[in-house]
Amino acid sequence: MNFFDDGSPYLSHPLLTPDRTSAEIDRIGELIDGLADHSLVVDLGCGFGRHCLELASRGHHAVGIDPSAAMIAAAEASRAALSSSLEGTARFIVGSADTTELGLEPASADLAVCLFTTFGQRSQSLPPSASTTDLLQAAARFVKPGGWLVVEVPDRQRTIDGLVTSEQLGPTAVSRRFDDDTGVLHERFENPTSTFDLAYELFSANELEDLLETAGFATAQVVPAALVPPPPTFMTVVGRRQS
Ligand SMILES: C[S@@+](CC[C@H](N)C(=O)[O-])C[C@H]1O[C@@H](n2cnc3c(N)ncnc32)[C@H](O)[C@@H]1O
Repeated sequence: MNFFDDGSPYLSHPLLTPDRTSAEIDRIGELIDGLADHSLVVDLGCGFGRHCLELASRGHHAVGIDPSAAMIAAAEASRAALSSSLEGTARFIVGSADTTELGLEPASADLAVCLFTTFGQRSQSLPPSASTTDLLQAAARFVKPGGWLVVEVPDRQRTIDGLVTSEQLGPTAVSRRFDDDTGVLHERFENPTSTFDLAYELFSANELEDLLETAGFATAQVVPAALVPPPPTFMTVVGRRQS
């Protein structure tokens, strides 16, 4: 099964606590010199909506996009559990972030985020460019000039250097393999009842900067760390939409 389908291990990822999500949003605010009140933020690959819901609870407008119906259903369930007032400010769309048909006004968003290894995802049955170049081009259309893009992904070399090729996590056997030819890391999670496959392309900081710049985002900062560590292999690249 696709790692992000029904029953996904991602829905119970032990690192992704509400406190962490709140600290990640604080950190994004620091990196972009503050997010103005009532900003519009688009979350490319929003997963179960944790960042959108945190942003909306702080008074911003958040739009989360994700091709996984299971992730969007979980996001909507969390929104309903939190407060009905968030319905107007946190909106979720099932779809790939590379498409132009997201109903977003051109040059309308103050910030786009693509966090925790969404950039480069290959698990979904979408063309490889959907979560890389096409996603960046879509972001360049709806982020306003001077607006921001924050991308958080694993750094390729640090990930390869520290790769644990097999381990047992409770009832789940995990195996990992990096394909040198494609630059894609494959992970398999097997437990007694199901098997989930995850695949994502890995980048160096320079490659990521080049991709952002080609799409029209000037690099403002490259931080060799997660928004909130761990994992120790992550990096965060901050881009600013050129006019
Ligand atoms: C590792 S999760 C990260 C989710 C979320 N950003 C977070 O921090 O919790 C990666 C997400 O990317 C989504 N994804 C994969 N390809 C995508 C694409 N082309 N456009 C948007 N999201 C995509 C997956 O469905 C999954 O929910």
